[in-house]
Amino acid sequence: MRKPFICGNWKMNTNRAEAVALAEATAAAAAEVTVVEVGACPPACYLEAVLAAAQGTPLVVGGQNMYFQEKGAFTGEIAGPMLADLGCTTVILGHSERRHVFGEPDDLISKKVHAAFACGLKPILCVGELIEQRRAGETETVVRRHVATGLEGLSPEQAAAIVIAYEPVWAIGTGETATPDQAQKVHAFIRTLLADLYDARLAQAVRIQYGGSVKPENAYDLMREPDIDGALVGGASLKADSFAAIIAEAAKAKRL
Ligand code: 13P
Repeated sequence: MRKPFICGNWKMNTNRAEAVALAEATAAAAAEVTVVEVGACPPACYLEAVLAAAQGTPLVVGGQNMYFQEKGAFTGEIAGPMLADLGCTTVILGHSERRHVFGEPDDLISKKVHAAFACGLKPILCVGELIEQRRAGETETVVRRHVATGLEGLSPEQAAAIVIAYEPVWAIGTGETATPDQAQKVHAFIRTLLADLYDARLAQAVRIQYGGSVKPENAYDLMREPDIDGALVGGASLKADSFAAIIAEAAKAKRL
């Protein structure tokens, strides 16, 4: 059984006081559920404060990005071992904003995935198509490329530990959510890809989150789908109430 993972991606939001308050509330919500794993990825400069607030609670804390080199002259970058040293256990890699705003290519993301495992971080690998690509019927081609390059060279143990987040770019921050059926189809496709790349058993073990305008109102229907194993939540993770409601909806959906 895959334990659903609901993770907040706070992006470049909050100040220090807001981050601490949100972390405390989110950690309290995480402590209320056992059937769902809960995470938060705050801005890097607030990681230490958020980790302190999460201490002794089940809240998983992660970075939003990292560089693949361990150290050196890379001004402005953060190394995986630095995130691990703070106490992070996970890191988002290949987010669509990294791919499309900052131009990160697949091979760079692949290097980051390997570097994350090398320092004990479990990556959340984001994949997903642009609206033009969906309209052109290229969704599966794009998702196949993101998944295949993101997992390239990983051992079966590493591949089994990765979390894949399917985030259709057209649904991110737009209020337009993929329908449960649209999302389920792509999640099932990702699982067949994993079975081709590794084997059927591994494909059943990997958690695949959905991301893109997840809210309390649509979380239940999305989480009811058999291949949707949680959510990567942007905007709605910045409000403690709405994030707690999403966690509760996911717990309800998966308990039934
Ligand atoms: P929104 O939930 O704001 O659409 O963002 C989704 C996302 O990008 C999570 O990584």
